[in-house]
Amino acid sequence: VTEPDLAGRHVVVSAGGTREPLDPVRFLGNRSSGKQGYALARTAAARGARVTLIAANTALPDPAGVDVVRVGTAVELREAVLRAAAGADAVVMAAAVADFRPAVYAAGKIKKKDDQDPEPIALVRNPDILAEVAAGRARPGQVVVGFAAETDDVLANGRAKLKRKGCDLLVVNEVGERKTFGAEENEAVVLGADGSETPVPHGPKEALAETVWDLVADRLR
Ligand code: PMT
Repeated sequence: VTEPDLAGRHVVVSAGGTREPLDPVRFLGNRSSGKQGYALARTAAARGARVTLIAANTALPDPAGVDVVRVGTAVELREAVLRAAAGADAVVMAAAVADFRPAVYAAGKIKKKDDQDPEPIALVRNPDILAEVAAGRARPGQVVVGFAAETDDVLANGRAKLKRKGCDLLVVNEVGERKTFGAEENEAVVLGADGSETPVPHGPKEALAETVWDLVADRLR
């Protein structure tokens, strides 16, 4: 039986991957399916929380009893997260957010020209949503959780990212073309700003989600 230890709490979860359009036909994207974020949303709802799920380009059905806000780009994700975070007890950023977007959006489809090399794609920085939420906590005691998707030096990179982003908890998971993205299972180490390290063995994404909510609930008490 699930304890309703998040009853009366409002939590915000982001899921999926942002897409940054180049023209009406093409975008820069990533391999996130949204499964980890949806597992977080479902488990929080089962523990009694009111859940706002900000979903970027996912193909998953809306979880029952969860408010779903659909977005496309990192800029749209930022607006939706900041709006929802204003009254939230916890914000968990499981979405894979593009760090950069094309500097120029071509209103018409970019054409291939014969005898001409392709133009390089100029990029500009996207806002760092997690760092912004952590720096400007909407209310005292709001718990801010990030994820770190790493391919090498996973823990060292995760520790550095925790400091840089200023969040309370950072879930460090290893990713690859066929690892974690789209999978039913995950494994991770959850780093705390207090120096704690909670390893979560390979298992369903729901199991990792439950551990995240255990740690969030501890910090909300
Ligand atoms: O969706 P699935 O297929 O289930 O896969 C799950 C997952 C691999 C996407 C997920 O577990 C995960 O690791 N999500 C975070 C992906 C990511 O963007 O990691 P990052 O290390 O690039 O970013 C670190 C943190 O900053 C993340 O919480 C991210 O949401 C946030 N961020 C990043 C860039 C940016 N401009 N703004 C942000 O808020």
